[in-house]
Amino acid sequence: MTDSGLPGGTFTMAKGLTVTRVGYGAMQLAGPGVFGAVRDHDEAIAVLREVVELGITHIDTSDYYGPRVTNLLIKEALYPYPESLHIVTKVGAYRDFRGGWPHARKPEQLRHAIHDNLINLGLDAIDVVNLRMGGGEDGHSLVHDSLAEPFEELARMQQEGLIKHLGISTVSAAQIAEAQSIAPVVCIQNHYNVAHRGDDELIDSMAAQGIAYVPYFPLGGFSPLQSDILNSVAERLGSTPHAVAQAWLLQRSPNILLISGTSSVAHLRENVAAAGIKLSDDDVAELNSIAS
Ligand SMILES: NC(=O)c1ccc[n+]([C@@H]2O[C@H](COP(=O)([O-])OP(=O)(O)OC[C@H]3O[C@@H](n4cnc5c(N)ncnc54)[C@H](OP(=O)(O)O)[C@@H]3O)[C@@H](O)[C@H]2O)c1
Repeated sequence: MTDSGLPGGTFTMAKGLTVTRVGYGAMQLAGPGVFGAVRDHDEAIAVLREVVELGITHIDTSDYYGPRVTNLLIKEALYPYPESLHIVTKVGAYRDFRGGWPHARKPEQLRHAIHDNLINLGLDAIDVVNLRMGGGEDGHSLVHDSLAEPFEELARMQQEGLIKHLGISTVSAAQIAEAQSIAPVVCIQNHYNVAHRGDDELIDSMAAQGIAYVPYFPLGGFSPLQSDILNSVAERLGSTPHAVAQAWLLQRSPNILLISGTSSVAHLRENVAAAGIKLSDDDVAELNSIAS
C-alpha cells in the first residue's frame, strides 16, 4: 500500500496527470461483443461508483464501446466528476452494423469523435486521448501505417484546448517515434500480459522515458488466460490466476498501469485486492517461463 491507498501507488504521466496504477477499463460494461446496451444497468452503475469509492483515479473508455454506452454510463454514474479522476478515451475506429471496428482516422472523423466524447462524457476537455492505430482481422494487430495525418489533427485539437494529453494504441516503436516528432506522448496502450510478451523491450524503453505503458487484455481479454503455471503459482499462494496475473504486471515495471475490465462489483474488488499480492523472485521466474 502507498499514500494513494491502493496497491501499486501512483504514476505521473505528465504535470497534473497523476493516476493510481490500479485503474479500471470500462469496455466490459457494453453489451456482448462490446456492442449494444449494457447487460445489467444497475450493476454497471454500481461498478463505476465502486471504482471511485475504492480510490481508483484512472478510467479507460471509448465512445465506440457500445457505441456511446460506456461513456454515457460513466457520466450517469459519476458526473460531476471528482477532481482526482482522470478519464482516458480513444478514437480512430467506429462500429459497423456487424459489430466490426473499421478505422476512422480521417481528420474530420477524429474531430467528430472528439466532440462526441466531450458531449457523452460531459467534459469541456478530455484528459487523455489515445489514437487507435491497430486493425487487421482481430481488430488489435499492428498496422504499420504512418500516423502523421491523424496524430497531427489530434495535436491541433490539443492546441485548441479540447484535449489535454495524447497517447497512442496498438503501435510499434517506429510509430511511437513518429508520434513523438509531432507532439508529446504520455501513454502507450498495447496488447500485453503474462502470456503475451511481445512488448517487453518496448516497455523498458518507455519506462526509461517516463511514459506509461497501459496493457490491454491484462487478463487475456476475449480469450481468458489459460496456463498451468499460472494456476499452480496461484494455488501455492492461496490466490487466483486473475490475481496473480495482475500482480505480475504491477511488478513487471513501474510504468505499467492496470486497466483490467469487469462488469461485476465483486470482481472489481477482487482485482484491487489482487494487485496487493507480493510475488517472490521465484514466483516471478516461474511466471516468466509461461511466455518462453
Ligand atoms: N486500446 C485498445 O485497442 C483496447 C483493446 C481492448 C481493450 N482495451 C481496454 O482495456 C481494458 C481491459 O481489457 P478487457 O476488458 O478487454 O480484458 P481483460 O481485462 O483482460 O479481461 C476482462 C475479462 O476478465 C473477466 N474478469 C475480470 N476480473 C475478473 C475476476 N476477478 N474474476 C474472473 N473474471 C474476471 C471479465 O469478466 P466479468 O465482467 O465477468 O468480470 C472479462 O470477461 C478494456 O476494458 C478497455 O478499456 C483497449
